[in-house]
Amino acid sequence: MSSAGTADRISVIGLGLMGASLARTLVRAGHDVTVWNRTHSKAEELATEGATAVDSLVDALEASPVSLWCLLDYQMMAQLMGDPSNSKALRGTTVIPSATGGPADVRLVADILEPLGAAVLDAKIMFFPAQTGESTAELLLSGDQQAFAQHKGLLSDLAGVCRNLGDDVAAASVLYTAVWSYDFASRFAYMEAAALVTASGLDLEDFTKSAALRTAQFPEQNAELSDRFTRNHFDGDQASVDIYAEGVPPMMGAFSAVGLKALLLEGVGRYSDAAEHAGYGQKDVSVIYDMIRSRKL
Ligand SMILES: NC(=O)c1ccc[n+]([C@@H]2O[C@H](COP(=O)([O-])OP(=O)(O)OC[C@H]3O[C@@H](n4cnc5c(N)ncnc54)[C@H](OP(=O)(O)O)[C@@H]3O)[C@@H](O)[C@H]2O)c1
Repeated sequence: MSSAGTADRISVIGLGLMGASLARTLVRAGHDVTVWNRTHSKAEELATEGATAVDSLVDALEASPVSLWCLLDYQMMAQLMGDPSNSKALRGTTVIPSATGGPADVRLVADILEPLGAAVLDAKIMFFPAQTGESTAELLLSGDQQAFAQHKGLLSDLAGVCRNLGDDVAAASVLYTAVWSYDFASRFAYMEAAALVTASGLDLEDFTKSAALRTAQFPEQNAELSDRFTRNHFDGDQASVDIYAEGVPPMMGAFSAVGLKALLLEGVGRYSDAAEHAGYGQKDVSVIYDMIRSRKL
C-alpha cells in the first residue's frame, strides 16, 4: 500500500532509465500500474515485477484515470498526444508530463491537453533514477491544483519532497532550469578545477578534501546571497567586485601555465570586469546578480 494508504490506478508512459524507475517504485508502493513503452520488451520486464504491460498507448491511456509520461522531450509527447485515438483516450483524464524542457515545451503539451478537458500537472524530477522514492528526492510540480491535491500521496511515493509551485503549468520548468543550470555550472567548474590539479601533478585527493570544505559553506552563503537579493543590499566588506576582477587573471595564468583552458573561470572574469567597468568595483560581488537581472550584462 502507498505511503498515503491508498492505491491509485496509474499508467506510466515511457520506460527509459527514469520511467522504469518511477514505474517500479509505484508498483512497490502498492499502486495498480499499467506500463507502455515504444520498445515493448522494457514493458515486459516491468510486468515481471508486478506492472501490467500493454502493447498500445491507447490501451495504457484507457487503463487508468492518471498517466505519468516520462519521455525524452515534450515534442515527442505532443506528437503522441495529437494522434486522434490517443487524444480521445486522454479526454477528462489527469496527465502528469515529465521531461526536460522549458516553459514553451510544457505549454505545447498543455495546449493539446486542456481543450480535451484533461488536468495537467507538470512534474520535474530533481533526482537520479537510483534515488526514486527517497526522502531527499524532490519533485517540482505545477499546474492543476485539484490534481495535485488528489494525487499527493502517489507523488510522495516517488519523492519525499513534492514542491507545489501553483497553477501556472510552466512554473516547475522555470525552477527546474534554474536549479539544474546552477548544478551543471558547479559540476563543470569542479571538472575544470580538478583538471588543473592533476595537470599540475598535485594529488586529486587534496583537491577533493579542500573543495568539500568550501562547498560545505555554500548553503549558508547562498542563503546570505538570497537575502541580499531580496533586500537589494549590495554593499559589504567581505568580497568586493574588485577582488574578483583582480583575482581571476592570475588564476587564469595558472591554467594557461599547464596548457589548459578554463572557460567557466573566464566567464567569472567577464562578469567581474563588466561590473568593475560599470563602476561597481567597491560593491559586494552580489551586485552581479542585480546587473544580470536588470539586463545590464
Ligand atoms: N535519467 C535521469 O537521471 C533523469 C533525471 C531527471 C530528469 N530526467 C528526464 O527524464 C526524461 C527521460 O529520461 P530517461 O533517463 O528515462 O531517458 P532514456 O533512458 O533515454 O529513455 C527515453 C524514453 O523515451 C522513449 N522515446 C524516445 N523517443 C521516442 C519516440 N519517438 N516515441 C516514443 N517514445 C520515445 C524511449 O523509448 P524506447 O525505450 O523505445 O527507446 C524511452 O522510454 C528526460 O527528459 C530526462 O531529461 C532524467
